[in-house]
Amino acid sequence: MKIAISGKGGVGKTTISAFLIKALEDMGRKVLAIDADPSPHLARVLGFENAAEIRPIAEMQELLQERSERNGPFYKLNPKVDDLPEKFMQQKGNVRLMVLGAIQQGGAGCACADNAVLKSLLNMLLLSPDEDIVLDMEAGVEHLGRGTISTVDHLLVVVQPYKGSLETAKKIQRLAEDLGLEHLEFIANNVEDEADIDFIVSELGRKPLGVFWSSKEVRQAERASMPLSEACPQCMKTAKDILKQLEQSR
Ligand SMILES: Nc1ncnc2c1ncn2[C@@H]1O[C@H](COP(=O)(O)OP(=O)(O)OP(=O)(O)O)[C@@H](O)[C@H]1O
Ligand SMILES: [Mg+2]
Repeated sequence: MKIAISGKGGVGKTTISAFLIKALEDMGRKVLAIDADPSPHLARVLGFENAAEIRPIAEMQELLQERSERNGPFYKLNPKVDDLPEKFMQQKGNVRLMVLGAIQQGGAGCACADNAVLKSLLNMLLLSPDEDIVLDMEAGVEHLGRGTISTVDHLLVVVQPYKGSLETAKKIQRLAEDLGLEHLEFIANNVEDEADIDFIVSELGRKPLGVFWSSKEVRQAERASMPLSEACPQCMKTAKDILKQLEQSR
């Protein structure tokens, strides 16, 4: 199963990615976690011991220059990336983690040569046949493009019970539809009570696939840099329930 997580900034994409990754591992699966967040910290919330030392590929200027063969406005459209997973993949238990960092959008000021390398690497990783994949992204899906998004089985859009997050979620839904992605689900996070859920349902016009409650344990674990999965058994239960529903819907 290949799952991408999107949503407005700060809604809990990384937190929920971590619960889903750990839940998949607990279910006996091999997981490939891809961190494509501009300020990646999936390694920390997953409890990787060397989290602070991991450099995102997006920050490896020398490597990006070498692989893109950047020369003025010219660069390689199909850069060599097949050796990069072996060099930069992190492993903990049955979870492999690749920290890509931000893949920028096209347009003015686009770091197109660097992006060609990052996108090639992402597309290659998404084709991994033997693992379930969880992709923690920055807000939106614009930077992914049709080719990449078509390899994802499910796009989960995280929402919180406030207007800004729900408006962004609806925008992502429209963009995803334009890109031809059919399987989109909403996940509610940081919910305090039933009124919060009612508000989300009324704004989205449908029920979220899962609900993560506002959790003191999650806040405390984040502050103490503790692995999130150990802090919140209820969140793990929610994550497993979401995965079961996703599997049944395939
Ligand atoms: N259910 C929850 N209960 C309590 N705190 C939460 C919950 N979900 C997320 N948080 C906290 O909210 C903050 C933002 O969460 P997170 O980093 O997962 O969001 P994000 O969407 O990945 O952010 P960004 O857009 O910056 O990547 C974190 O400090 C996290 O610990
Ligand atoms: Mg994040």
